[in-house]
Amino acid sequence: MQFQSFNPPVRTLMGPGPSDVHPRILEALSRPTIGHLDPAFISLMDQLKELLQYAFQTKNSLTMPVSAPGSAGMETCFVNMVEPGDKVIVCQNGVFGGRMKENVERSGGVAILVEDAWGEAIDCAKLEDALKANPDARIVAMVHAETSTGAQSDVAELVKLAHDHDCLTIVDAVTSLGGTPVKVDEWGIDAIYSGSQKCLSCTPGLSPVSFNEAALEKIRKRKTPVQSWFMDLNLVIGYWGTGAKRAYHHTAPVNALYSLHESLLLLHEEGLENAWARHFRNHQILKAGLEAMGLNFIVKEGDRLPQLNAVSIPEGVDDATVRSRLLSEYNLEIGAGLGALAGKVWRIGLMGHSSRAENILLCVAALESVLGDMGAAIDKGAALPAMQKV
Ligand SMILES: Cc1ncc(COP(=O)(O)O)c(C=O)c1O
Repeated sequence: MQFQSFNPPVRTLMGPGPSDVHPRILEALSRPTIGHLDPAFISLMDQLKELLQYAFQTKNSLTMPVSAPGSAGMETCFVNMVEPGDKVIVCQNGVFGGRMKENVERSGGVAILVEDAWGEAIDCAKLEDALKANPDARIVAMVHAETSTGAQSDVAELVKLAHDHDCLTIVDAVTSLGGTPVKVDEWGIDAIYSGSQKCLSCTPGLSPVSFNEAALEKIRKRKTPVQSWFMDLNLVIGYWGTGAKRAYHHTAPVNALYSLHESLLLLHEEGLENAWARHFRNHQILKAGLEAMGLNFIVKEGDRLPQLNAVSIPEGVDDATVRSRLLSEYNLEIGAGLGALAGKVWRIGLMGHSSRAENILLCVAALESVLGDMGAAIDKGAALPAMQKV
């Protein structure tokens, strides 16, 4: 084999993540590496924490990026919060709720599953019934933005219900952070994790997390040590905690943290509310185009995520052929269906830096061209005027 430098093709990323990375973030990544205990790096860490607090809308002092992807943020929440024997109610309405159940069980907990159909938001009434039926439950876990279906759940209401029944909460905000409102303090979320590669449009591989005092108290009072050394927050706090004294825990991914810092800076410059509004506006434009073409959303209006648009694949159209033609002919990536929705839906992401007018035009035009060419029953020429109206 002949080895050579890897030069990736330039793609437009409109799948479920990673999203397009802003050039400023890529440039930040290539700045000189310094030591992870260098005073200059420590000051970057302090800024990172503050910027993450802004993104999460929290004053939680334990707000930091886990040095690994969203799945590690998920695991950090579960291994620290769940002790052997703890009963945890897991709301599942897609793939990622299923992973939460796995995490509960691998942490020695007992998972009580409250299921909703894929494509629907989590039903508050069902959670309330489960809380009444399980008065010994300690934690409720939920996915805010189910990336596998494009459904958004009412986390504020679900957290309130959990607290009314003396449960703490773990919230997955991997796809929501930066794209739709996530208000950790206002909603009273106890533990939350996200990912760098979605609406923050940073490079993949980091997972911002945040824990409030109630969550930290549960962790401090554990009778058994956290079974994961790397994710044990009692140890990680020595590096990411407040104050000038920071001790070595692991070698932080220095350059990746430059890139996260730059992405949060971009979010701060735009303003959270403006970022949420941009995601919503662009979703409306895309929706007008796709629906005019004849494609149908699988999630009902009102429960849809603006940053993840799941539409049914038209009858008789081969999913993989369309996606591979979009990639080879237009350098455009859209997402396939996951789990129970594999082969049935496309997931079109409008996340972070990908949520731009030119991307929408490219996606709709390319889809129309490929589907038309394949003889699919679509309304050709209707999308652009519909989008222009919006
Ligand atoms: C809702 C949700 N949770 C968790 C994850 C896992 O994140 P990662 O792939 O960064 O490990 C994802 C990834 O797509 C996700 O969408």
